[in-house]
Amino acid sequence: MSNTFREQLQEWADAHGVILVYVPEVASTNLTAREGGCPAGTLVTAEYQTAGRGQRGNRWQSHAGENLTFSVVLEPGFLVAEEQFCLSKVASLALTDTLADLGVAARIKWPNDIYVGDRKIAGILIENDLSGSVIRRSILGIGLNVNQTSFPAELPNPTSVTLQTGMEHERARVLATCYDHLCSRYAQLAQDRAAIDRAYLKTIYRLGEEFSFVNRHGDPFRGTILGALPTGELQLRHSDDGTIRHYLFKEIEYIIP
Ligand code: BTN
Repeated sequence: MSNTFREQLQEWADAHGVILVYVPEVASTNLTAREGGCPAGTLVTAEYQTAGRGQRGNRWQSHAGENLTFSVVLEPGFLVAEEQFCLSKVASLALTDTLADLGVAARIKWPNDIYVGDRKIAGILIENDLSGSVIRRSILGIGLNVNQTSFPAELPNPTSVTLQTGMEHERARVLATCYDHLCSRYAQLAQDRAAIDRAYLKTIYRLGEEFSFVNRHGDPFRGTILGALPTGELQLRHSDDGTIRHYLFKEIEYIIP
């Protein structure tokens, strides 16, 4: 591979027939992918996002040129709106596969954060356009901390591949690996959804362990994660009364030590 991130990536994209949109700086790669009319399979990546977006209306902060911020366009016409959580599973598993290749054992903190131990290494923001009941277009936005070693104090528990492995990594190689895993997991979703469900379940952070949570009213409680429903709800057994309850994304937060 040749020198810069851009050159390395273009070389890989040309060799593999991937449509690449590289931008040094952009508001958000998700927005570029969404507005640009990019065909399925397009990979949009930027060195720096001026308005990187995260879940729950948060910003995604990432040092210029140190990490990966990218979006992939999909047209999953075989999925209906109620099945959109499948795409979270695909993106999460592609990330844990990629990190495993780098020697980093990562887990999926439901619904779609990627953790190493109790620290966040990557986040996913998926934006879907529906056509009737079908998902016409989906933008999988991924932020993966690769070589960044210092983080703003307001981020509670960040980590990066470099912090985990003690060495720097070639971002183009990591991105190419992640794109390949995304394609494989996406193909697997179309062919054998149960295999995706099993892999996701096995990789859930704190699965089967009693843990502390807080509900949307701010009340803390203890519970054990049993799994995730096909609709994406988290299935929890409450420690106080043994009841099994289901939670949507914004209804619950983990209390991480
Ligand atoms: C989160 O954990 O809050 C989700 C973070 C998602 C960040 C990625 S970076 C590439 C893409 N473009 C964005 O604006 N956000 C996603």
